[in-house]
Amino acid sequence: MRSIVAIGIGTGNPEHLTGEATAAMRSLDVVLVLDKGTETADMRDLRARMLATQCAGREPRTVLVEDTKRDPELAARDYEAAVEEWHGRRVAALSAVIREELPEGGTAGFLVWGDPSLYDSTLRMLERLRGVGAGDSPESGGGEFAVRSIAGITAPSALCAAFAIPANAIGQAIHITTGRNLPETDPGLLRNCFVMLDGGCAFRKVAEPDTEIYWGAYLGDPRQILIHGTVGEVGEEIAAARAAARAENGWIMDTYLLRAAQPASQT
Ligand SMILES: C[S@@+](CC[C@H](N)C(=O)[O-])C[C@H]1O[C@@H](n2cnc3c(N)ncnc32)[C@H](O)[C@@H]1O
Repeated sequence: MRSIVAIGIGTGNPEHLTGEATAAMRSLDVVLVLDKGTETADMRDLRARMLATQCAGREPRTVLVEDTKRDPELAARDYEAAVEEWHGRRVAALSAVIREELPEGGTAGFLVWGDPSLYDSTLRMLERLRGVGAGDSPESGGGEFAVRSIAGITAPSALCAAFAIPANAIGQAIHITTGRNLPETDPGLLRNCFVMLDGGCAFRKVAEPDTEIYWGAYLGDPRQILIHGTVGEVGEEIAAARAAARAENGWIMDTYLLRAAQPASQT
């Protein structure tokens, strides 16, 4: 049986790699890179450096899998059907590449930014791939491919570590969302709310001036930037720092924690 492994590599620091991740990297025959057109040269370089360091002298072959696109006409009529159809095509393309590039009994892997379980489509794709050859049902098992995932350090974990803060106040729930979803978020959830995938400082639309914000960009990278304060004090500073860093580097990845003010008895 061929094996596919999604390896979480952390958020940009080679030292984020766990022992399990390095062992998995060394077991690979092929590294699969899904070309979504969103990868930066910095990200590609980091992956190449990790492989060179961890697999010195026995680096797996890298195979580029060209990603397909959603059908815009179908998406306009029925968005969910379009996504379903697109994912089906993606899995078909991927299984064809794996059959061609990986011998029976071999292992292929994806090096996934952060942790594969958080805001990443690799495991969703592999869930479907697992079903290929087993009546096309991911649940039926016994398909052609065995699938594994190796946990990595997530952006929220890297953010908390950078500030040396706990993610939640005692016994409270944690909410993780995206910049796009933030405006519709119940204000009660802003007590311990991580925001990712935010291209436009969405906190400015929802957070009260006395809400605390812990903002981190390029977490784990030498370019790391950290800003902390209340939204009223540092909100504009964050927006300006974000724009300047993005202009300088050509890309930015940032994550923040919002901690809305709450009675002292609850902290
Ligand atoms: C597609 S998601 C991938 C998340 C990843 N799987 C994880 O476990 O963190 C990309 C988002 O993760 C966050 N992110 C990833 N790497 C980051 C970094 N080095 N610094 C700050 N935020 C980061 C950003 O919010 C970015 O928009």
